[in-house]
Amino acid sequence: MSDIKIKETPVEDEQAQPILTHEKSLSQKIAHGSEASDILDQQMVSLGIQLVTQLNVLIKTSRIYERTNKALDKPVDAMLTLIKTMAHDQPVTLRLQNDFLFLGDSHLKVNAQQMAVATSIIDVLNTWKIGGMTFSLAAESKDLREFAALFVSFDPGNKTIEDLQKEIRARGIAGIDLEEQRQLQIRKGPGTAGNTGPGTAGNTGPGTAGNTGPRTAGNTGPGTAGNTGPDGTENADPKMQRKANGRNAYAKVGGSVGTLTQSAREGGTVSFKQARRAIQNIIDLMVDDEASILGLTTLRCHDQYTHNHSVNVSLLSIALANRAGYPKVELADLGLAALFHDMGKSTIPMEVLNKPGEFTDEDWVAMRNHPTEGVLGLSKMRGITNLPGRMAAASFEHHMNLDFSGYPKLTVPWTISLTGRILTIADCYDAMTSSRVYRREPMSPSKVLNMMLSKSGKSFDAVLLKLFVNCVGILPIGSLVMLDTNELAVVLKPAVDKANTERPFVRVITDPQGNSVDHGREIDLTEKNETGDFRDNIIRLIDNTEYKFDTSRYFV
Ligand SMILES: [Fe+2]
Ligand SMILES: [Fe+2]
Repeated sequence: MSDIKIKETPVEDEQAQPILTHEKSLSQKIAHGSEASDILDQQMVSLGIQLVTQLNVLIKTSRIYERTNKALDKPVDAMLTLIKTMAHDQPVTLRLQNDFLFLGDSHLKVNAQQMAVATSIIDVLNTWKIGGMTFSLAAESKDLREFAALFVSFDPGNKTIEDLQKEIRARGIAGIDLEEQRQLQIRKGPGTAGNTGPGTAGNTGPGTAGNTGPRTAGNTGPGTAGNTGPDGTENADPKMQRKANGRNAYAKVGGSVGTLTQSAREGGTVSFKQARRAIQNIIDLMVDDEASILGLTTLRCHDQYTHNHSVNVSLLSIALANRAGYPKVELADLGLAALFHDMGKSTIPMEVLNKPGEFTDEDWVAMRNHPTEGVLGLSKMRGITNLPGRMAAASFEHHMNLDFSGYPKLTVPWTISLTGRILTIADCYDAMTSSRVYRREPMSPSKVLNMMLSKSGKSFDAVLLKLFVNCVGILPIGSLVMLDTNELAVVLKPAVDKANTERPFVRVITDPQGNSVDHGREIDLTEKNETGDFRDNIIRLIDNTEYKFDTSRYFV
């Protein structure tokens, strides 16, 4: 990188407080758990926040200037002083656990002003899947400079944390170590998210999963994260681990949408930060395994309809947008916009939303107003300033339809945004396959897709709809099929081979007699036998809603 002279707000301004001093070996003189020890902990936390701040400045500055540039002096010197102060007994580790920063075992609680800095570092650590960054007294000025230069020159898109670690060693950078993020298993037990028997599948919505998943993981804390006890063991099976992560992320998004909708209803202030983080987590997981994350959208917990619907629409929109080449960095904004597309419904009384019978004309008027009410509601919210206008567009346009056959009706010329067109598809698909919208009975995913394809180019953007079909598969994820062996199977993910889209990955769920089997085999229907014929074939599609069959349990 060259020495580009860019005139911009000096990044070092972010450092607001002076560095606190911390008397050497004081920690050993103080009784653990005493008041003085609390003060010491507070002081360490305060220093930790300053370390985070300076690290953020160092990384940002290194993106602009060469490692030897004077602009780096201030953050480097400040970091060295902080490391010297904190790491006199043992190296100091900055950790990221469940999107929270820790200094050693102490949670770095940040205030509103420090939030932007903390979020910036959290994002950086998450991008690299870094769980810990350790600094020891061995670190010198040249090491910090070299490390920052290396850090900003590597692209997380094609390099991993291992590449970083290797390069740190290769360049002889001393005193700085990186650790990978640790994954925690969800505690299994009655009523927890890990319990996925047929009877409990419906319970794993945000209502319960949100309480068990993240809380269990949170309680384990960074101090014990590495312990391999019977309850908090790390999951050896990466597939199970991915599922657990997906469930957790889904629950977190659901939880945050619940909290935000509630506070919007009560007229309180709303912060999108938590929801944004949860969405980012989903995006990261989706990059690894899109099908598993989309499988979560088959989760239809009836009393949680509104929340599940919002989360599902968000997930489906992100997947579609990603396939449509939407800028990666903007996927989280889109996901957030999708999450709140029905925000305007918070102005509709609960009695109307939950009405068991038919809607009156008046109810329909209220219902048809929700896109506009959403725009009004969103614009009133605090924190909206740094969110793109697409959030309002998503709310305003999601029922408009490409040919303007929907609502609201406009008297002025209008072009529906890309976000709006993506939303229309994701929203319709999820609403139709769920049972709670406007008292309609749910339809099977494949029926919905066929219905939508019949309106391609009219209600829906034809190109986007085609991409969407690729996303969920022509036999959508969650569909129930009968194989030529008379076994029933559920579609797990679309075929990778574009020429064989009707041959997805499935899991066998019954024997030929129709008795359900546990841990049925997974089949790639594009696999052929020795004679070159397909090994297994689908003979017909089963309407899982007709049979009241909940396929979501194969995903959660
Ligand atoms: Fe809507
Ligand atoms: Fe909706």
